[in-house]
Amino acid sequence: MNKLLGKILGSRWTKVVAFAACLVPFLLLLIPFLKLLTTGNAPELGANPVEFITHKTGDWTIRFLLITLSVTPLRKILNQPRLARYRRMLGLFAFFYVCLHFMTWFILDKSFSLSDMWADILKRRFITVGMLGLAMLIPLAVTSTAGWVRRLGFVKWQRLHRLVYFVALAGVIHYYWLVKSDVRLPLMYGAILVVLMSYRFFVWKQAAPKRAATRVAVKTPSTASLPD
Ligand code: HEM
Repeated sequence: MNKLLGKILGSRWTKVVAFAACLVPFLLLLIPFLKLLTTGNAPELGANPVEFITHKTGDWTIRFLLITLSVTPLRKILNQPRLARYRRMLGLFAFFYVCLHFMTWFILDKSFSLSDMWADILKRRFITVGMLGLAMLIPLAVTSTAGWVRRLGFVKWQRLHRLVYFVALAGVIHYYWLVKSDVRLPLMYGAILVVLMSYRFFVWKQAAPKRAATRVAVKTPSTASLPD
């Protein structure tokens, strides 16, 4: 069973299907949006299309962030190393949706006005923290290629990519601050983030003796290899 799952996850076609599935929320917005532009009517986008698109792209940004953060725990729990092949794609989809989210706000809501944008960033704390999340995601998207892993070295690259934890936290706070009354959904996303981070902390704590042993071995290579 595990072998079969590994084979499915390792297939190029599974990745193509996963890629297509990640595009579905975008197409479900794009098609009615184009209909709205051409015919002036798209009931799928509700009474306020700009609000609808902002909400949907925001929802998919936080979902993709949490799905990306689930890859490593799932890979370890299910013992499926091939799941790692999907992490970069999922992370880039989080970036794609946050770009759409930001552009909807900046183009359709703020009409490209930089002064309006700054005023909103300074005035509304949920926008400030959302922008912080977006700003932190940019270097992660740029350095997501194998070339950047080589250029930075794996340890530095991995350290930089831990920023994604703060991006997800910024996303949860952003959502919690913007809702007016019903905070159940942002709290649910926050709880998922806590579970995912607790798992990482647990694994990190468990590996502490191994890390200490490696440090000692690196510091005293000659004595460590001396026979008694
Ligand atoms: C990591 C970054 C971000 C995440 C995860 C995120 C996520 C979300 C979520 C989940 C929602 C609520 C959707 C719903 O109610 O169904 C939302 C709404 C919103 N977001 Fe973001 N967002 C991010 C960044 C940004 C940025 C950079 C901006 C603009 C500068 C922004 C502007 C908005 C606005 C205007 C709303 C709607 C607020 C309202 O209904 O009053 N977000 N976002």
